[in-house]
Amino acid sequence: MAILITGGAGYIGSHTAVMLLEKGFDIVICDNFSNSSNDVIEKIKKITGKDFNFYNIDLRSKSDIDHLFQTEKIDSVIHFAALKAVGQSVQKPLYYYENNLCSTINLLHIMDNHHVKNLIFSSSATVYGDKATPPYKEDSETSATNPYGQSKIMIERMLEDLHHSDDSWNIISLRYFNPLGAHSSGLIGENPQGIPNNLLPYIAQVASGKLPELKVFGNDYDTPDGTGIRDYIHVCDLAEGHIKALMKLKGSPGYDVYNLGTGKGASVLELISAFENANGIKIPYTITERRPGDTPLSIADVEKAEKELDFKATRTLQDMCRDTWNFQKSL
Ligand code: NAD
Ligand code: UFG
Repeated sequence: MAILITGGAGYIGSHTAVMLLEKGFDIVICDNFSNSSNDVIEKIKKITGKDFNFYNIDLRSKSDIDHLFQTEKIDSVIHFAALKAVGQSVQKPLYYYENNLCSTINLLHIMDNHHVKNLIFSSSATVYGDKATPPYKEDSETSATNPYGQSKIMIERMLEDLHHSDDSWNIISLRYFNPLGAHSSGLIGENPQGIPNNLLPYIAQVASGKLPELKVFGNDYDTPDGTGIRDYIHVCDLAEGHIKALMKLKGSPGYDVYNLGTGKGASVLELISAFENANGIKIPYTITERRPGDTPLSIADVEKAEKELDFKATRTLQDMCRDTWNFQKSL
């Protein structure tokens, strides 16, 4: 029996695929390469020395998903596939709702038809919106400030309803905080198309000379150095969190939600320093206006994941900066 990884050619999915293969799990990956490419599939095979089946399908096509489930013996699904650019979701809400919601509904229908009822869903810290107070606990109030966040809240609710309607469904929603870093091989990592929206990919492109300088979005927040604070977590720690969640699904089924973060925050200026120290490269920056929609502080309460999943992130900010740069240099 295999684990299906949807969106497995993407940033978090590819790192999770590597870890699952290294731990001896059988996997199948599907992806439509809307934000990734086939060479990632080859690199996962190269890193692990293992083979697996890959399906180039779009989850908006129910018949394509059905064909995959008819062909493969799947017992669990880790559902990463989604569009994730917050700004684009504001410009193209229907595209986001169609891709993220319809894909998930199609997948759930086909899973149900094939009696596959173990699912791990990629949710996001974005569901804590602008109403909850950090550090965020899993039962903190959720709200959305954009269609991307709304799609995550809606899917979480749908999954909870599904479990209530039929408790043979075993589902975990994982709310990721800010994933950074790359695999130590330097072969896979995050390679955004165009100008990066997120902080560390932007810093890495400044370091490589692709971009002239970083713009720090505001230094007048109510934080120790005035810049925004986030809970950055290494993508390989995040991958381990999925293995822990799989173990939990098997050992104690039900519907549950977990934060995956470190429980510690770093400011924009601290991340710049960590990058400079880890890699010996100076990052030029200027302070500009706040970015609309940004919150000053986002930090996970990690107690529930520690207690119930036995999950604890171990990699440091320096590790994240070193591995990101190692990957960036290989591009
Ligand atoms: P990514 O864009 O690198 O990976 C997503 C993958 O899904 C891509 O390879 C894309 O081609 C594929 N995909 C998208 N729509 C598809 C469809 N309809 N059919 C088939 N494949 C499709 O993103 P990521 O950073 O790896 O994120 C993975 C998941 O984690 C997403 O659900 C995202 O919303 C969530 N998440 C990401 C972050 C982050 O900062 N990276 C934070 C919180 C949550
Ligand atoms: N920042 C800058 N300059 C930049 C980019 C970012 O100063 O060029 C600052 C932001 O203002 C913020 C911090 O760096 O204070 C982190 O910003 P990111 O864009 O890297 O991350 P966000 O927390 O804003 O958002 C990301 C994803 C969301 C997701 C969230 C939580 O973009 O989709 O993490 O997982 F919901």
